[in-house]
Amino acid sequence: MERLQKIIAARGYCSRRKAEELIVQGRVKVNNIVVTTLGTKVSKGDQVHIDNKILIDKNNEKIYLMLNKPRNCVSTMYDPQHRKTVLNYVKDVSQRIYPVGRLDYDTSGLLLLTNDGEFTNIITHPSHIINKTYHVLVSGCLVKNQLQQLAMGVEIEPGIITSHAQAKLIKYQEDKDVSILLLTIHEGRKHQVKKMIQAIGHEVLKLKRIAIGFLQLDEELKPGEWRYLKPKEIKRFFGMASQLKIK
Ligand code: URA
Repeated sequence: MERLQKIIAARGYCSRRKAEELIVQGRVKVNNIVVTTLGTKVSKGDQVHIDNKILIDKNNEKIYLMLNKPRNCVSTMYDPQHRKTVLNYVKDVSQRIYPVGRLDYDTSGLLLLTNDGEFTNIITHPSHIINKTYHVLVSGCLVKNQLQQLAMGVEIEPGIITSHAQAKLIKYQEDKDVSILLLTIHEGRKHQVKKMIQAIGHEVLKLKRIAIGFLQLDEELKPGEWRYLKPKEIKRFFGMASQLKIK
């Protein structure tokens, strides 16, 4: 049990002092009964209304955001080697959020974070319906036949062949002897893109995820910056899942 004004403040509505004013003014109800006594104790499960509007616990609110993950940070919650984690970039979010899937330490780009397990399940579901698109800087010159191999599937480990993908060469930079490739894959195996490129005899020099399904990395976000997903973006992911019955 906690004091009512403390619960109101803890749920992120206003300061404790402001909550005391609201209580004295008779604007606060607990389980539909007006409470004007300061210090009234309530439990976490009690329903609190202010001006007849239910007070949602902001800490239980589902949140969804996209981060432009910089290179040189881990996308786990904690790193035993004490390297920077993606959570260092979303410090001003009070809810406990976690990354949806992983990007390697040296990979940058679109990473989603949430506190909603159902959403995570949709994005990372093993049916692999949600594509992930990568902008890849590759050593050397990629030829047509290699792009076809990537698209049809390559053996990345003994007996493990990737499923079909889309591989599009953007350009070959002769002066630097590097190719720029857009690769869209359905699976999410560890180091998958790097292993696919290795399998065709080349090396990934830089890797950036630029889209997850229909959702493109917001170009306005600099590395380390984030924004909340828009309600229509969240809805669209849930819509995809219910169409395919994968919730
Ligand atoms: N594939 C990789 O090799 N690394 C990533 O970070 C993501 C996909």
